[in-house]
Amino acid sequence: MARTSSNINDNNTNPNHGNRNSASSQTRLYPESMVELTPFILKYYDRLLDIGTMGFYRAFIRTAIRSMNIHPGDAILDLGCGTGRNACYMVKYLGGKGKITGLDLSDIMGNQFESKCSRYPNVQFVKQRIDQPFTLKEQYDKVFMSFVFHGFPHDVRKIILQNALDHLKEGGTLNIVDYAEFDIHSAPFYTRIPFNIVEGKCKYAYDFIAKDWKSILEGHGFGRFQETFFAKNHLRLLKAAKIGE
Ligand SMILES: C[S@@+](CC[C@H](N)C(=O)[O-])C[C@H]1O[C@@H](n2cnc3c(N)ncnc32)[C@H](O)[C@@H]1O
Repeated sequence: MARTSSNINDNNTNPNHGNRNSASSQTRLYPESMVELTPFILKYYDRLLDIGTMGFYRAFIRTAIRSMNIHPGDAILDLGCGTGRNACYMVKYLGGKGKITGLDLSDIMGNQFESKCSRYPNVQFVKQRIDQPFTLKEQYDKVFMSFVFHGFPHDVRKIILQNALDHLKEGGTLNIVDYAEFDIHSAPFYTRIPFNIVEGKCKYAYDFIAKDWKSILEGHGFGRFQETFFAKNHLRLLKAAKIGE
């Protein structure tokens, strides 16, 4: 696997980009969010998730990725890529062709990503914030975001959507794996309790599940939606094609 930071051009506006030792990359911009993880959670992320969900997340994410219909040769951009586990699942569908670029702000995640994906030369990690405008040199067939998008203020989500749009080929798809829209108050206890435990401190997650995402995406240049639901309709893969602005 090749590490690169050189595929970002000079227009990059991220002050942290390319500086793996930057202390500012560890600064939490959104203290009320749970997606900016603590060093302990970053270090043991996959293990904690496997234990905390009793293996559910691992099985779920594999199924969600299978539902993306990845084609051999696809170029995939993974925003908030984490440890690289998802990239390792996705790369199997590429048939040795195509590529995956994982972006994350965390050095700890970057190191795990590079180690997990080291046997795949077509998978690379780039340290990059996704909540600020950035410019990569290429465009992708698919942009993938798994359990990242819900954790930002709504205005910041619009920047992330623009980043996704800018980096998709015409007709390419944004694939959001995240909470579906549901009413937390009327949700069954087996959804309400874990949601409140995991997201209790994240007001953005509550705001996320209350929004009509297809309407919002339509206003940001996306359309031709496809949805696959999981966990009794409380989790969703939402696919949205780039239509143009
Ligand atoms: C909840 S984890 C999800 C990781 C991975 N997508 C998965 O499904 O396993 C959130 C990830 O987003 C990253 N992240 C949070 N804020 C970010 C930002 N502003 N820019 C880039 N990555 C970010 C975190 O470092 C972490 O790896």
